[in-house]
Amino acid sequence: MGIWILNGLTVDANNVQTKKHVLVENDKIAQVLDASNGEVPQTAGHEVIDAAGKLVSPGFIDMHVHLREPGFEHKENIATGTRSAARGGFTTIACMPNTRPVIDTVDTVNYILDKAATEGVVRVIPYGTITKNELGRELTDFAALKEAGVIGYTDDGVGVQSAQMMKDAMALAASLGMPIIAHCEDDTLVVGAPVNEGTFATKHGLKGIPNESEAIHVGRDVLLAEATGVHYHVCHVSTEQSVRLIRHAKQFGIKVTAEVCPHHLLLSEEDIPGMDANWKMNPPLRTPRDVQAVIEGLEDGTIDIIVTDHAPHTEEEKAKGMMLAPFGILGFETAFSLLYTKFVLTGKWTLGFLVDRMTKKPADVFGLPYGTLEVGSVADITIVDLDTTKAVLKEEIVSRSKNTPFIGWELQGWPVVTIASGKIVWS
Ligand code: DOR
Ligand code: ZN
Ligand code: ZN
Repeated sequence: MGIWILNGLTVDANNVQTKKHVLVENDKIAQVLDASNGEVPQTAGHEVIDAAGKLVSPGFIDMHVHLREPGFEHKENIATGTRSAARGGFTTIACMPNTRPVIDTVDTVNYILDKAATEGVVRVIPYGTITKNELGRELTDFAALKEAGVIGYTDDGVGVQSAQMMKDAMALAASLGMPIIAHCEDDTLVVGAPVNEGTFATKHGLKGIPNESEAIHVGRDVLLAEATGVHYHVCHVSTEQSVRLIRHAKQFGIKVTAEVCPHHLLLSEEDIPGMDANWKMNPPLRTPRDVQAVIEGLEDGTIDIIVTDHAPHTEEEKAKGMMLAPFGILGFETAFSLLYTKFVLTGKWTLGFLVDRMTKKPADVFGLPYGTLEVGSVADITIVDLDTTKAVLKEEIVSRSKNTPFIGWELQGWPVVTIASGKIVWS
């Protein structure tokens, strides 16, 4: 028995919208019929989902998430994190290696993959670290990690401080045909700062994280990427300077790609209501000018994809306040509705643009066979109710943690059914 999804709205990157019937059988998309042409599906013996008036999208792909397992299961684990992802419409997620132990050995990669297979509800693809223990001192065994199934190398959570170390990592990754994914942060420019260097920091007498601490690494690394030929991917771009450097590098033909998070597209330091650590993340909320620059970067293709940087921390941890609480906010469960409400419904973006940057584009950037509704492809499908408006409620959050600044926001466009590898994992 398969699942027929009837009369849903599909959309492509050019925002061409077509009404379709989609048949899921086993773990594959078995048939797609054009409903506007009056093609009639043979539904006998199949489960039927009426998707009339709803968006039927390829399952969303999030290439930057923190699942916290192993080591920080009090914040999140693979079971809770993948369910939170499913609620947000994500069917493929790439998890960052800043766990404990960090993902720097084949054993830890295997642990993640085994846990994901037995306890996860969506596809989990791990990154391995660039350096052992993310200490920046010694490269990991890239070839062995690749063999074990990582999709790239990153020390996310910290920047690789040594240019020589980064260059060696890029050369090795390039020789294996693998990407380097960079959390860009120069430690000599950020000492104990919890927020952006700007108006909020000044008002509250805090040290600030300057834009250059990110952009200096971007500038250094695009030159190293040029020298080594590696595919270099920039994490969570937050500054105008980074956008400018990436744009320039792309014009030069350097193999660089980049990502941006919903919070950096939507919020600036001026929105932070007070000393509430649910507004603390790294990179921090920047100035309105930076927000405008990352929006333009995404719009003109300088920034390729949208990721959440889903970073759960417990309420106790966040209650330590702006100075002491850890960096990071949740991402999965509000990503689509935030961007749909604030960019699509306001006429700034087409629906096709938003969906493309959360599905096909990330698949293309990382060479994944997902993000498509083509017949024969894996049945990863997200059905979205584009009409219902409702508030973000803390009680409804599926993640083990609740650290988001978006509680109470009235948003429209909510994933209602998520199908991963042909199985309904959220409805
Ligand atoms: O906000 C962040 N949270 N930024 C990072 O770089 C790390 C992440 C985390 O692991 O919590
Ligand atoms: Zn990071
Ligand atoms: Zn991260």
